[in-house]
Amino acid sequence: MCTNFLLLRLLIAAGLLAMATAAKVTPHNYADALSKSILFFEGQRSGKLPNSQRMNWRKDSALHDGSDVHRDLVGGYHDAGDNVKFNFPMAFTTTLLSWSVLEFGDLMGSELQHALEAIRWATDYFLKATNDPGSVVGVVGDPNGDHACWQRPEDLDTPRTTYVVTKEKPGSEVSAEIAAMLAASSIVFNQSDKAYSDSLLKRAIQVFQFADQYQGSYNTSIGDGACPFYCDFSGYMLYKATKEPNYWKYVKDHIHNLESSNTVVRNVDGSPVPFGWDSMHAGINILVSQWVMTDPANSNPFIPKADQLICSILPESPAPKSVTYSPGGLLFKPGCCNLQHMTSLSFLLIVYARYLKGANRTINCGNNVVLGPAHLINFTRKQVDYILGSNPLGMSYMVGYGTKFPQRIHHRASVVPSMDKHPQHMRCHDGDQYFKSQAPNQNLLIGAVVGGPAENDTFEDSRYDPGQSEPVTYNNAPFVGVLAFFKALYNL
Ligand SMILES: *[C@@H]1O[C@H](CO)[C@@H](O)[C@H](O)[C@H]1NC(C)=O
Ligand SMILES: *[C@@H]1O[C@H](CO)[C@@H](O)[C@H](O)[C@H]1NC(C)=O
Ligand SMILES: *[C@@H]1O[C@H](CO)[C@@H](O)[C@H](O)[C@H]1NC(C)=O
Ligand SMILES: *[C@@H]1O[C@H](CO)[C@@H](O)[C@H](O)[C@H]1NC(C)=O
Ligand SMILES: *[C@@H]1O[C@H](CO)[C@@H](O)[C@H](O)[C@H]1NC(C)=O
Repeated sequence: MCTNFLLLRLLIAAGLLAMATAAKVTPHNYADALSKSILFFEGQRSGKLPNSQRMNWRKDSALHDGSDVHRDLVGGYHDAGDNVKFNFPMAFTTTLLSWSVLEFGDLMGSELQHALEAIRWATDYFLKATNDPGSVVGVVGDPNGDHACWQRPEDLDTPRTTYVVTKEKPGSEVSAEIAAMLAASSIVFNQSDKAYSDSLLKRAIQVFQFADQYQGSYNTSIGDGACPFYCDFSGYMLYKATKEPNYWKYVKDHIHNLESSNTVVRNVDGSPVPFGWDSMHAGINILVSQWVMTDPANSNPFIPKADQLICSILPESPAPKSVTYSPGGLLFKPGCCNLQHMTSLSFLLIVYARYLKGANRTINCGNNVVLGPAHLINFTRKQVDYILGSNPLGMSYMVGYGTKFPQRIHHRASVVPSMDKHPQHMRCHDGDQYFKSQAPNQNLLIGAVVGGPAENDTFEDSRYDPGQSEPVTYNNAPFVGVLAFFKALYNL
């Protein structure tokens, strides 16, 4: 009797322990993180804000953009913690956001509407930035003037210079990325707004022709990619949007240029990876794999390259690695602002896992290591959970998610008091005191995914360290798709 009683207590204790351990692996609230990841984009808006604006500490800003060239260029996004409109990363962000919706929109529930609004905020602006057939607007706002001041977007009085690429001064990276983005977004709006979708597609073809015909590098801080690659990408997006075989032929004809281009990325041991996310080579291979998976005659070289990329990432693969891992398990790529690599690769891994599943395929990484979709998904979930707080510091790297998150992000609008709290105009250096202060930021930029921790899992939480504390729109854009996937996987 007595021993049975003891056994019962032990069993209860064991049951409680099992529950407690299980609780440790309880999924994060991916639904909450998804909502916040999309809300973030409202904090990055430039221009005349709509009544539907939810992040309401932000107000109208830069209402005369484009006036120096007699054009209306009001709207669009700041891509990071400054107030310049860099159209290259803005287009890249919008491509990723569109791709997130194309792959995972049906899993987003009521958040789909907000994701579509976030895309449209960019596409409305890009229709203005490309409405002259002989040119494409590359940047609005003088970056040096902007970076010299710590000023709210609502107060901007630095030069809002418009930089335009033309036939004489081409900028293929920015033009081609804009073409890809317009084509991708035209597919997004195909069902819900046919007329809008058609105008995006028409513009995509115009900008693609401009980019392809007048090739040349726009040599500024916005990027030094070579044309063939970005042209490939826009070619593929146009193929997908138009089903015109000549765009597909363009991709196949140019894909080989990737390997000879000087953007080849090296593995940690120095051996070459034939593509890297940095230049979006990985993106094109995985994107194309979706289509060629069911058409073996077309599978080369896309599927072998995509497989190789996966084998160069997953820890259980014996292949040379293109990434390293922090002691806490976070994936690292050399260079700055690590979470941009991590969120993009997570997106590609989930997309590829779905293709593998659909095609009933696995990946052979050598030494009898065969990886299936479940491996890719498990791996990605650990990365996502790290960002959301399952890490040595217990720190979420998404502002406003969980109880512990970065308080001093490198972001002008977030640092300086809002117009509601401080309606008077603040000049170039009036914000400096807030930058230098140890106090938390004045305004919560909910959903912002920052640059992330150092390779030893430490985090400074300092405005002086933008590599760690600055949010960028292209961290969030692929993460939107990843979070939608995990929200659906756990029925949240
Ligand atoms: C851009 O121009 C500068 C100065 O002319 C040059 O030093 C640099 O190598 C160029 N970069 C690229 C990617 O062409
Ligand atoms: C757009 O939608 C129509 C009607 O549903 C469909 O026939 C067409 O293939 C779609 N186009 C693209 C590019 O998705
Ligand atoms: C998937 O592949 C496995 C192994 O190649 C095979 O046994 C199985 O029948 C396939 N399933 C389907 C649904 O084709
Ligand atoms: C994926 O993770 C689940 C839950 O932790 C585990 O049951 C499963 O075995 C894992 N699958 C693979 C392929 O690692
Ligand atoms: C962790 O890495 C950072 C950045 O490299 C370095 O400054 C710091 O001293 C390291 N901290 C520890 C505890 O190793």
